[in-house]
Amino acid sequence: MSATPERNGAYGRVPRKEDARFVRGRGTFVDDIQLPGMLHGAVLRSPLAHARIVAVDTTAAEAHPRVEAVITGQALAELGLAWMPTISQDAQSVLATDKVRFQGQEVAFVVAQDRYSARDALELIQVEYEPLPVVADAQRALETGAPVIRDDLPGKTSNHIFDWEAGDKAATDAVFAAADVVVGQDMLYPRSHPAPLETCGMVADSDPVSGRLTLWSTSQAPHAHRTVYALVAGLPEHKIRVVSPDIGGGFGNKAPIYPGYICAIVGSMKTGRPVKWVEDRSENLMSTAFARDYHMHGEIAATADGKVLGLRARVLADHGAFNATAQPTKFPAGFFHIFTGSYDLRAAHCEVTAVYTNKAPGGVAYSCSFRITEAVYLVERMMDILARELGMDPAELRMKNLLRPEQFPYTCPTGWQYDSGDYPRALALAMDIAGYDDLRREQAAKREHGEYMGIGISFFTEGVGAGPRAHMDILGLGMADGASLRVHPTGTAVLGVSCQTQGQGHETTFAQIVAGELGISPDDVEVVHGDTDRTPFGLGTYGSRSTPVSGAATAMAARKVRERARIVASAMLEVSPDDLEWADGKWRVCGDPEKAKGIAEIAMAAHSSLELPAGVEGHLDSEVVYNPPNLTFPFGAYICVTDVDPGTGQVSVRRFIAVDDCGVQINPMIVEGQVHRGLADGVGMALMQVIAFDADGNCLGGSFMDYLLPTPVECPSWELGETVTPSPHHPIGAKGIGESATVGSPPAIVNSVMDALAPFGVRHADMPLTPANVWSAIQGRRLRTDLAVT
Ligand code: CDP
Repeated sequence: MSATPERNGAYGRVPRKEDARFVRGRGTFVDDIQLPGMLHGAVLRSPLAHARIVAVDTTAAEAHPRVEAVITGQALAELGLAWMPTISQDAQSVLATDKVRFQGQEVAFVVAQDRYSARDALELIQVEYEPLPVVADAQRALETGAPVIRDDLPGKTSNHIFDWEAGDKAATDAVFAAADVVVGQDMLYPRSHPAPLETCGMVADSDPVSGRLTLWSTSQAPHAHRTVYALVAGLPEHKIRVVSPDIGGGFGNKAPIYPGYICAIVGSMKTGRPVKWVEDRSENLMSTAFARDYHMHGEIAATADGKVLGLRARVLADHGAFNATAQPTKFPAGFFHIFTGSYDLRAAHCEVTAVYTNKAPGGVAYSCSFRITEAVYLVERMMDILARELGMDPAELRMKNLLRPEQFPYTCPTGWQYDSGDYPRALALAMDIAGYDDLRREQAAKREHGEYMGIGISFFTEGVGAGPRAHMDILGLGMADGASLRVHPTGTAVLGVSCQTQGQGHETTFAQIVAGELGISPDDVEVVHGDTDRTPFGLGTYGSRSTPVSGAATAMAARKVRERARIVASAMLEVSPDDLEWADGKWRVCGDPEKAKGIAEIAMAAHSSLELPAGVEGHLDSEVVYNPPNLTFPFGAYICVTDVDPGTGQVSVRRFIAVDDCGVQINPMIVEGQVHRGLADGVGMALMQVIAFDADGNCLGGSFMDYLLPTPVECPSWELGETVTPSPHHPIGAKGIGESATVGSPPAIVNSVMDALAPFGVRHADMPLTPANVWSAIQGRRLRTDLAVT
């Protein structure tokens, strides 16, 4: 049973509208787009991680009978398109002109009559490289004498990108100096990849007559992408239409603009025909945006009886060859500084240094809100390490330090204001579902017999729904989102939103929001998204923004329609608008509720010959821009039970209890699906996944043979619970849920494995906890998971 209140019956477990086409295989993904005369593009990529380009010879490729065009960096340079801006306001090479800086970097683009010929012709391009020393290690990249990767940047003599800090250093130092207990730990959140099932791609169609450019693209942010294309290509926005059709998963991977997109556009402009470019799996894993790669040192200070006082973190952030990490401009380390998590601390301070390496660029918000995943991991590991140091139960330590309901709205030591929460209730519920005390008894009994069972806890606070626009922008575009609502005379409606679903079910939940506000059925609301010609401007879907921002815009647009409807209803019922009240999906006369008008009747009247009162022009339609006053702060308490075989290092996740609070739930079935997906992601991150590199910068995670995705075999039957603490500033009290489980689950799993390994004296091992890594930890060795997985 959901604790969420029903909105005129519109909220609840409404089946997903989009599944009608997906289960029949009738979705339309970018690769399904077929246009008359369409050509196919393929990218030539560098085999080397660092090398000077001496010469590129395309003669043989151009002579291929089915090749229509070959584009090189030199050709792009002549058009002023060899470099493009990144989300982090760096410049990224579209096709390399001077050097290649990571293995898999884009060097040339072939356009041919079919995909196979395009690929075949890549092998006919001769590139002469002069290899350069490679630096794939973030620590080494900062050493004096390290090869300078970005010698294209004027005056650049090192690989240093930025230093950034948050919190009060002096206050934190003072708290640490006075504390009874201080513990520290090095930890790595290794480089991983969002790995959506659908890789990235585009069909670019340039019409030489109208000058219009239509781009079917795997984009999480179609409007923002259109503006970037307009700026890069010098085309007016009204000549560019970005259509992001059905998207097979994004998870941050489809937020950036990739060189392949620009090449497809140039290819279409050059040939005058549509060009399709769709990358393969290895291209996706090797060259598109990675996530994490944070080398962290955490320190926590507490009293002897377990009151946590302060937290410190030093981070070395590996950004790869171009600074293309994704976050609002003011926050170069994303929202990492929400790193005090869910606890009531006196002081905190973090420092982040970012560095270039010969690795693919990225640093996207892979199922999290801009580095909160790394932050939650740090604080939750530190809480466990502290509990061990103090000899306290980790649940008891957390309960003692969690923020209390009466502290909300709560401003954390680094300045974020959390909106609402009842954290102890969520943890108590998770412990109840888990049967925590029984689990501890079972664990003690098993240890007697040499069986190693671990119980891991994590508590997380996410911060989702970026802006407000005054505080947050991407490339100068303020983070606010629009919604438009058109109501037909018969009372059915079309909602246009600027966010872009990638499988999260927006067509259903956003229809439910409109339905809940207007007293109509969700079946009568069509949700249009992912098409810049048909939707209002906005910054798109990543960092669980959709419900907190576009969902709020939707509710506000519907309320505006409702207010117009009130004026029309007042004319229909011949009463003053002030004498009407909205109840059970209709405007009703106060004191005589049987006299009422619903939206369908009112919409028809608004389009009829009825004399309309002032304030209504003839329809009920509305358009709003929602500029969120703050993030929303969903939270959760997770408990993981693992069994570890010390002989093989094999970890199996036996149980996983997840209690989430995302405020008012629009569709609890979809919420649960989001949580299941994120928990499985967490199993992958904690136990299986890393994009590793050898010393020559060769990517060791470029296929699904090396980069492992979790399947139901590795996942237990999830046990979910919920609490509902509405966000006070969100129009319908909702918070985001899309990414919570990916943020919360890895530390619970790692804490559980470290708990199982406690009898061996293991305090910490880095993710992923592969059998080799666990076994090495038991042997007292630390496996460099960023360099090698065996
Ligand atoms: O931005 P993204 O869609 O990835 O994340 P989200 O806004 O957290 O929403 C994920 C899905 O869960 C959407 O279909 C939401 O409308 C739905 N949801 C919900 O039903 N109730 C909530 N309180 C939060 C999200």
